Amino acid sequence: MDSIVVRGNGPLSGQIPIAGAKNAALTLMPATLLSDEPLTLTNAPRLSDIKTMTMLLQSLGAEVQTLQDGRVLALSSHGIDNLKADYDIVRKMRASILVLGPLLARHGQAIVSLPGGCAIGARPVDLHLTALEAMGAELDLRDGYVHAAAPKGLRGGTVNFEFASVGATENALMAATLAKGTTVLNNAAREPEIVDLAQCLRKMGAQIDGEGTSTITIDGVDRLSGATHPIVTDRIELGTYMLAPAICGGEVELLGGKRELLTSFIEKLEESGVSVFDTENGLGVRRGNDGIRATDVTTAPFPGFPTDLQAQMMALLCTAEGTSVLEEKIFENRFMHAPELMRMGARIDVSGGTAKVTGVEQLRGAPVMATDLRASVSLILAGLAAEGETRVARVYHLDRGYEHVVSKLRSVGAHIERVQDA
Ligand code: UD1
Repeated sequence: MDSIVVRGNGPLSGQIPIAGAKNAALTLMPATLLSDEPLTLTNAPRLSDIKTMTMLLQSLGAEVQTLQDGRVLALSSHGIDNLKADYDIVRKMRASILVLGPLLARHGQAIVSLPGGCAIGARPVDLHLTALEAMGAELDLRDGYVHAAAPKGLRGGTVNFEFASVGATENALMAATLAKGTTVLNNAAREPEIVDLAQCLRKMGAQIDGEGTSTITIDGVDRLSGATHPIVTDRIELGTYMLAPAICGGEVELLGGKRELLTSFIEKLEESGVSVFDTENGLGVRRGNDGIRATDVTTAPFPGFPTDLQAQMMALLCTAEGTSVLEEKIFENRFMHAPELMRMGARIDVSGGTAKVTGVEQLRGAPVMATDLRASVSLILAGLAAEGETRVARVYHLDRGYEHVVSKLRSVGAHIERVQDA
C-alpha cells in the first residue's frame, strides 16, 4: 500500500488544471444503458471509481473503451446480455445503484445488489426505490438484492422526494426518459452534475425541463439515440485545490474553475479572508496577509455548502484565528477526519453533527490515516500547513476521486510525494 508524505510548505504559485467531475461521470456512464447507440463522454477524469463503473457496465454486456489516455470514454450498450449487477462490484461503490433505473427502463427488469455494507442503514437507497415505484416498478428486496420489474414498461408518475437526494434524482431522471407519459420529480436535487446529466440525456433525445430547479419534468420517449458529451468540471476537486493556497499562502489559478459551481463555498472562503477572482481561464485564489479568520459552515444540498468539501474546509479552519462551528447536515458520522487532524495538533470538539474548531497557531506533522476520500485530501491540505512531515496512510481512498494529486500539487510548489510502504 502507498502513503503520501507531505512537508509543511511556503506559499504556492502556479496553475492547476481541474478535471471532469467524478460524480457526473458516475451517472453519465450508466446513461449508456438507456440506448443501443454509442455514447461518448469527453473530459473524463482518470480515477479508480471510473474503472469500477467500467467493470460494472462491462459485466452487464456493455462495451466501454478508454481512449486518449483515459480522457474519453466510448460506451455502447447494444449488447446488454445480463441484467444483474453483482454484489462483488456494487459493494465497492455506492454509485453502482445508478444502473438500476436505466436497466429497468430499457429492459423491463433488473437485479441490483444493495450497495456497500449496511444497505438500509446509514446510507440507504429507499428514495431511489420509492421513485421507481412511483413509475410503476415492482420491487422485491431479497438476498441483499433489489429485484425490479416493469413487465409493461415504466409509466410516468409524480415523485415527491422526502429529501433532495442526488443519486435518487439521477436514477429517477434516467428511468423517466423512457417511461410512458410524463414524470414530475418534486424536491429534486439541483446539483450541477444533475444538470449535466439532463443536458446529455437531452442530446440523446430525452424531453426534460427544469433541471437545476427543484421540479424536473420529463416526457418519456420511445427510444434514445447516441450522443457525445463533455463532462462538467469537478467542483469538489476545484474547491479542494482552492484551499491549497488558502492554507499555504500564495496565489494559484484553477484552470476550468467556475464561480457558479461553488458560490456558497466561495462566500465562506472570502469570509475567512481569502480572495477569489475570475481569470481568463478559470478562477484565481490568493491568501491575504492577515491570515485566516474563523467562519461557521453548515453543509446543505446544492447550492449550499457541499458536504464533500467539509473535511477540506475544516483543515483550513484548524489554522484560523478564532472558533468556527461546522455543522454536517447531509451525512451522519462525517467527521472521521477530526481525530486525525487532532493528531496534528488541531483543536476540535465533535458532538453529534457539530464540530467546533478552534484555530491553532501551528499544526504539526504526524502520521495519520485516511478514512475516506474527502478525509484523505483534508489531511494532505493540513499537512501542507503543518510544521514537519505528515505521512498519510491508506491513500487508496484518494485514488477514487483525485487524479494525479501529487503532480498537481507539486506543480504549484508543494512538498508532497507518494511512497510505497515498507
Ligand atoms: C452524492 C455524491 C456524494 C455526495 C452526496 C451529497 C455521487 C456519486 N456521490 O452521493 O459525493 O457526498 O451526493 O452531496 O454523486 N439518503 C437516504 N435514502 C436514499 C438516498 C439517500 O436516506 O435513498 C440519504 C443519505 O443517507 C445521505 C443523504 O440522503 O444522508 C444524501 O444522499 P444523496 O444525496 O443520495 O447522496 P449520494 O447520491 O449517495
